[in-house]
Amino acid sequence: TVEHVKITVIGCGYLGATHAACMAALGFEVLGIEIDPTRRSALERGVLPFFEPGLPELLVEQVESGRLRFSADIAEAAAFGDVHFVCVGTPQRADGHGADLTYVEAAVTSLAAHLTGPALVVGKSTVPVGTAERLQEILQSQSPAGDQVELAWNPEFLREGFAVKDTLEPDRLVFGVRSERAEATLREVYSTAIDGGCPVVVTDFPTAELVKVAANSFLATKISFINAMAELCDVTGANVVTLADAIGYDERIGRKFLNAGLGFGGGCLPKDIRAFTARAEELGVKDALRFLHEIDRINLRRRKRVIKIARKELGGRLPGKRIAILGAAFKPNSDDIRDSPALEVAHTLHELGVHVTVHDVEAIEPARTKYPDLSYADTIEEACAEADLVMHLTEWLEYRAVDPAKLGEVVAGKRMIDGRNCLDIDAYREAGWTIRSLGRP
Ligand code: UDX
Repeated sequence: TVEHVKITVIGCGYLGATHAACMAALGFEVLGIEIDPTRRSALERGVLPFFEPGLPELLVEQVESGRLRFSADIAEAAAFGDVHFVCVGTPQRADGHGADLTYVEAAVTSLAAHLTGPALVVGKSTVPVGTAERLQEILQSQSPAGDQVELAWNPEFLREGFAVKDTLEPDRLVFGVRSERAEATLREVYSTAIDGGCPVVVTDFPTAELVKVAANSFLATKISFINAMAELCDVTGANVVTLADAIGYDERIGRKFLNAGLGFGGGCLPKDIRAFTARAEELGVKDALRFLHEIDRINLRRRKRVIKIARKELGGRLPGKRIAILGAAFKPNSDDIRDSPALEVAHTLHELGVHVTVHDVEAIEPARTKYPDLSYADTIEEACAEADLVMHLTEWLEYRAVDPAKLGEVVAGKRMIDGRNCLDIDAYREAGWTIRSLGRP
């Protein structure tokens, strides 16, 4: 039964904190390893440095149940756990090419030194294909327990905003394993999801590693594909939303991830496609992923495009104009501003001499920390007061609920750019606005 397996989670950032809380919720005894003492005590109180619905409550509940605790001590982790999940970050390298594996390697090396008996170390971080093989060598050569310790690769597909649900009820589980014992252990750890019908893909290390980056590359490709279609729609007068609906009815295509607009951002998709391209180059198959470079370019072009439209709407000159930006997070229901298209557009406009005022439902504080020079507003009305132009750049439900007639009373010019193609064009027109979209006439 699950109570017998003891779990550690090494690195309690977004992924690790979620995984630790969810494993405890499933009934396991869990030890989370987090070296930062401030972060550790915050986790114990359910205080998170990011916005994730349901996670703070779950953390508090599991800490109170006694099943979940945190420590900084990797030796304690080695002594405690049967299964060790490695959830440390793999940021983009400073040179912009490839992933920085310093944290993953340090975690595995320091854990290995303390493992004196059988254990399964499970990699979850997103890594370049080939990393698991190397980590397995480090693990077995540096652990006193030798080949009694084993590595498995078990990529994570959680979406921000749905992290708890995605962890407890995954679409699929992928186990990259080298032995039946490793597979059996992972099946035990995930028995709740598996009994609930979750498909399990059991495979080798490189396939397991590739699944993650292939999935994210496919999603990025879908978004850039429809954004490329939006460019075509803009010059032909066609409507990209209708186009997406129509092609999406084909089950082979599917409607999801075909929302054209300002494009993708966040901590995963942009970083992952760049790291994947860099890895392909190292492996001598650069041509195979050349298209991902184009996917990235289409995506970044969206940010330029929206600024071009803004300039045009404001009579060809931007300096001195007042623009209200609705949205700073890279997507709604998140306070994450990493590679946020909305915030980058806001910052670029500011650099171009525009008086920019930014509103967001959750991400104002992180945005202010990153770009203290921009103006921020607590309410939508305050952000839009006296604005010559309003730009809707992150599709929070709150923005869709705005009454165009009321908003029209506070602005200086009733001009709206819908960078996410989801505002009600007719309602804005009826209220006297000019509204421009990215791919809708
Ligand atoms: C993504 C993957 O979905 C997840 O499986 C993986 O584990 C991590 O990366 P996340 O970064 O949380 O998750 O965001 P996601 O919901 O995938 O959105 C990514 C970006 O694409 C956002 O900026 C979003 O605004 C944009 N997007 C999404 C579009 O522009 N159009 C769409 O149709 C869908």
